[in-house]
Amino acid sequence: MHVFRDIEELRDWRRSAALAGRTVALVPTMGYLHEGHLSLCRIAATHADCVVASIFVNPTQFGPGEDLDSYPRDEGSDLVKLAENGVHCAFLPTADMMYPTGYETFVEVQGLTAPLCGASRPGHFRGVTTVVCKLFHLVEPQVAVFGLKDYQQFLVIRKMAGDLLMDIRVVGGPIVRAPDGLALSSRNAYLSHRGRKAATVLYRGLAAAREAYRGGERDPGALRAVALEPILAEPLARVDYVEVLDAETLAEPSAERPMVVAMAVFVEKPRLIDNMVLGAALAE
Ligand code: PAJ
Repeated sequence: MHVFRDIEELRDWRRSAALAGRTVALVPTMGYLHEGHLSLCRIAATHADCVVASIFVNPTQFGPGEDLDSYPRDEGSDLVKLAENGVHCAFLPTADMMYPTGYETFVEVQGLTAPLCGASRPGHFRGVTTVVCKLFHLVEPQVAVFGLKDYQQFLVIRKMAGDLLMDIRVVGGPIVRAPDGLALSSRNAYLSHRGRKAATVLYRGLAAAREAYRGGERDPGALRAVALEPILAEPLARVDYVEVLDAETLAEPSAERPMVVAMAVFVEKPRLIDNMVLGAALAE
């Protein structure tokens, strides 16, 4: 596996004869890799000849007071995991390279970023789309793979690629969960033993909403109330949002179209997010 820390090294490799005529898939990450990230690398390998994974804790997507400085890192173990999961090239740029002194250009998707995490974390998606756009330019992939765990992020990046006429297929990978349902996340590392148990309320809420949906419930308010119930009953959990929205547009839902139940919940220190699509599986 190639490991590049420098933009010029990456570009030289990308334009080298060895890559001529080969397709490339990109998996962007912020590191501290778990099975969720690695599943995306394996999916990427089914879509292209060559897989590039990036590890970059992107400062512009963190707000003031968020966990940029304490975000967990373990580069050595991350590189071993990438190599074991079919990644051909790991790209680990520094913040100075990605954001040269004096940069003043951002990429912003408008409507889709208004609700959910866009409302709770002002500027977050602007940071995400800006860095992903830069990575797309550097790596020039034909395919990019993102996890459906960050459901709104997936929709926003797909919209950015379409709106900016990028010739890149944005593929979504299914949410990877622990046996008790908790979606894997680098931020789960912040949880105490007790908090880890409490964190299962997110999945329990989603599973309850799915059961209600299967039982014929289509009223978004009622589905939301069902999802909220176990979360409100857990003293260690504090709801940021629980919403039921149209799964494609994130606008007001309607009974005939797929809906997404999306939630962000603080459990002890970390803010955990999760979601479930009801009525259809959205893979890409
Ligand atoms: P990060 O949180 O490291 O996640 C990297 C990718 O892994 C994202 O596409 C995310 O949706 C996916 N992922 C995380 N947990 C997952 C799980 N349990 N199952 C499936 N996929 C999972 O998301 C980011 O980084 C950043 O915002 C980034 C896109 C890299 C831009 O900085």
